[in-house]
Formats: sequence, structure tokens, C-alpha cells
Amino acid sequence: MSETRNRQWRVARYPEADEPISSALFEWVERSVPEPTDDQFVVKTLYLAPGPALRGYLDVSHQQFLGNVPVGEVMRGRGIGVIVSSKNSDYTVGEYFVGSLGWQDYSLQQPRGKEFVFSTKKISSPLRPLSLELGILGQSGATAYFGMLEAGRIKAGDNVLVSAAAGGVGSAAGQIARIKGAAKVVGLAGSDKKCQWLINTLGFDRAINYKTADLNDQLAKEFPKGIDLFFDSVGGDILNTGLAHISLNARVAVCGFISTDYDPNADTGPINYRNLLYQRATMQGFIVFDYWERFAEAEQALRQWHSSGELIFCEDLSDGLENMPQAVEDLFAGNNSGVKICWVNNE
Ligand SMILES: NC(=O)c1ccc[n+]([C@@H]2O[C@H](COP(=O)([O-])OP(=O)(O)OC[C@H]3O[C@@H](n4cnc5c(N)ncnc54)[C@H](OP(=O)(O)O)[C@@H]3O)[C@@H](O)[C@H]2O)c1
Repeated sequence: MSETRNRQWRVARYPEADEPISSALFEWVERSVPEPTDDQFVVKTLYLAPGPALRGYLDVSHQQFLGNVPVGEVMRGRGIGVIVSSKNSDYTVGEYFVGSLGWQDYSLQQPRGKEFVFSTKKISSPLRPLSLELGILGQSGATAYFGMLEAGRIKAGDNVLVSAAAGGVGSAAGQIARIKGAAKVVGLAGSDKKCQWLINTLGFDRAINYKTADLNDQLAKEFPKGIDLFFDSVGGDILNTGLAHISLNARVAVCGFISTDYDPNADTGPINYRNLLYQRATMQGFIVFDYWERFAEAEQALRQWHSSGELIFCEDLSDGLENMPQAVEDLFAGNNSGVKICWVNNE
């Protein structure tokens, strides 16, 4: 291995309640490339996947699925890379590896521990572009797949609402609903351009610009018989308004709550939750890693839909490890269409 420099973003401090993600929260350092010992191996990062959950890992005021990243540690981050040195016979130099690589050029991987066991895979011959493995064939696609099929229990004939529909998970979720025979799929997005893209390119039936429309009126118009399945990644007012329009026996799949991450008052909850009772509805949260043992099933379905052209993958590429903080903040600003990916290194 000729490269000796390992650029890293380390956590310098945690953000204030309403503070955006920026480079001010991190320290940019250069360390030497780690050497593997025992059963370890080293992965060179090629792409990272910025996700809204990354802000959560810096939020000490709420419980986190994987816990906070301690100050001084390399920032957590999922990515795809190539194995460049190995002392583990199961992980060979030249194979590709998807997992928690961190915001750095080179990571030392140790095949033990919950995060490793439940969220990593090695790939000998990946599809191209490699970012597919982080997007539609990776965590975004799997989240949409299990969220729709398991938490949402999608059925043919359902009338479906998807929030953050032009984002990585939402764009896949809406398309999966269509593939599974939904009667109508309506997406919520933050610009007219995104709404046009949802309808004209991804095949959503309708799309609503939640920033300019009267959402309550529009949902009443689009769902005269109610929403059978609401796949929600946004929380807050959008969740509350959607709950007012659910049908009898509706399902609400709680995928995320991106609108409330900067809102210290968000913990009061949606007042329209009472409609769950009137409509005998179910609201179910889910975490994609709960289905890790079934990822092969999701991957097979997603691959097949992707190769048949039924499932369109779109990525929004940022350039360079140095831009990771901005790439995460872009998600909160709605600056992305499709899966946000950050290129870090060439192979
Ligand atoms: N449950 C799980 O296992 C799991 C796994 C992965 C991701 N997730 C969740 O899935 C959601 C989507 O993640 P992603 O990585 O695919 O991100 P993404 O949807 O690609 O990006 C986030 C999008 O959210 C929208 N948004 C941001 N702030 C908003 C606000 N205040 N109100 C309404 N919309 C807002 C923006 O689009 P607009 O222009 O439309 O506003 C933005 O493009 C997140 O909530 C994430 O936490 C859950």
C-alpha cells in the first residue's frame, strides 16, 4: 500500500439544539494509515453515504440506536470501500466492503461487535456504479423495502402517502408501493421541480409541494377515502396533518423524523394521534438493521426491479471527504434529489 496519509473528521463537540451540521463540529486531522493485526483488515473508503441519522449520533439529548459518537473519535459513517491489507483469511485484498467506515480514508475493521455483525457485507463483484451498494441495493433501498412491506404491510389497492418522497429512502418507497400494486401513490416534496420529477420520472401518481400547498386541503382532495398507508420520514406537522387523513385500519410506517431534529419542542408529539384510535390504525416504527438477516431477500428484489427498469435509482453526488459535513446538512436543507452520496477516493 503506497498511501500513508489517512485524512479524518473527528468529533470536536456536540451541536446546540438548533445548530446545523457544519465543519465547526469536527476536527480535520491527518493520521497514518492503520496496519492490521490478528484478524483485522483495512478498508480504503471510496464512497460514504451521508444520512440524517448522522446528526442524531451527535445529539446527546435523545436516545440513539447506535449511541453517540464520543468527542475525539472519528465520525461514524457508512460507506463502501476496497480492502487494501488484511490479516483475516475471510477478507481478501481487492474485495469490496460495505459497512461502518467512518469519515476517513482508511478504517481498521475488526469482525466482531454488534455494528460489524449486523451491518456489513463484503462483495466480490459489485454492480457499477459502486454507490448503488449504498443506495438502492444498500441501506436506502432496504429501508424502503422493509418499511413498505413489514411496517407498512403494503397491499395491492392501497392509497399511499410518502413524505420526503424525493429523497433516498422516499423515492424508493414510493416506487416499491407502485410495484406492489398501490392504487395511488402521492409524494410530498419541498419544491415544484422535485414534484415534477416524482411524477414524470419515478411514476408517482401525484406529488404535493408541502412548502407552498395547503397540505390539509390537498390531502383531503387526493385521498377522499383516506390514506391506507403513510410512509413517514418527516414527523412534526407533516405527520400530524397526515394522521388527520388516515383511513379505517390504516398503517403508518414511522421511518424517520427529519423535521424535528432541530426542534427542541418536537417531543410534544402529534395531536392527531387520536385518529389512530378512531380509525383502528397501526403506527409502527422500524429500524432497517432489524431485518439484517433478510437483506439478501431485499437485495434480490431490488436488483430485479432495478434491472427490469421498474425501480429507478437516482443519486446526488458530493465531492470529497472534506465536504461530508455539508453533505449531511444538505439533507436537512432539502438540497438533494435521490440518495445522497459522497465520493471520497478513487479505487
Ligand atoms: N428507520 C430506519 O431504519 C431508517 C434508515 C435510514 C433512513 N431513515 C430515515 O429516512 C429518512 C430519509 O433518509 P434519507 O437518508 O433517504 O434522506 P433523504 O430523504 O435523501 O433526505 C432528506 C430529505 O428530507 C426532506 N426534509 C428535510 N427537512 C425537512 C423538513 N423540515 N420537513 C419536510 N421534509 C424535510 C428534504 O426533502 P424536501 O426537499 O422534500 O424537503 C430532504 O431531501 C430520514 O428520516 C432518516 O432518518 C430511517
